[in-house]
Amino acid sequence: MDPQFWHEKWQMQQIGFHQPQVNPFLIRFWTSLGLDANSKIFVPLCGKSLDMCYLAELGHQVQGCELSQTAIEQFFAENQLPFQVQSQQQHQFFSADQLELIQGDIFTIDPSVTASIGGFYDRAALIAWPETMRQQYAKTLAKLIPANVSGLLITLDYPQDTLKGPPFAVSPDWIEQYLAPYFEISLLSCEDVLADNPRFVNKQVPWLNEAAYKLTRKA
Ligand SMILES: C[S@@+](CC[C@H](N)C(=O)[O-])C[C@H]1O[C@@H](n2cnc3c(N)ncnc32)[C@H](O)[C@@H]1O
Repeated sequence: MDPQFWHEKWQMQQIGFHQPQVNPFLIRFWTSLGLDANSKIFVPLCGKSLDMCYLAELGHQVQGCELSQTAIEQFFAENQLPFQVQSQQQHQFFSADQLELIQGDIFTIDPSVTASIGGFYDRAALIAWPETMRQQYAKTLAKLIPANVSGLLITLDYPQDTLKGPPFAVSPDWIEQYLAPYFEISLLSCEDVLADNPRFVNKQVPWLNEAAYKLTRKA
């Protein structure tokens, strides 16, 4: 997916991935990660997710990264948060009390920017990439997450030939092959959520698994 694809999605407000409520897996599994309440949480490809508000309400500092300036401006406007903007090279930093959203391409973020994070949260980021770019994203995530830092990863898996992504199917085998070199991986849950996803039902996708993993960056 090139940047233009996402800019057009935001411009046309074709944002079916955006959830009007906090992700249930986040609510269910976040505390089991055992992270410090005031630690900073990195949210790659954050969109305007309300999950960031949930994390902030738990006491975390939140550091998101998002390509679309529209998404970031909508996030602050819809949550009635006053913000400030600063530019640094090819990125803009939008900040409010507990939130800092970096507008720009995740592939151009320097690891020094995320050096002080104490956790991360990936919902609809890994699964936003087609296969070729997903491997590149996995390497970038590994570069941005410091040693021993844990996070929650939420994925979808389904027979890829039944539906054109995004979201793209990511299997447990893919996770093992491409993330295990960098992260300790623990499967927290895997459930068939087909009945809750009319787009997949309408396309006659036979099954749809949503999984939550705890990842910890290897030292
Ligand atoms: C499927 S959406 C998920 C958004 C969010 N995680 C959520 O749960 O609603 C993927 C997001 O990644 C953003 N994105 C795509 N490519 C990006 C890149 N190279 N760097 C930063 N953000 C990117 C898109 O603009 C889009 O908002």
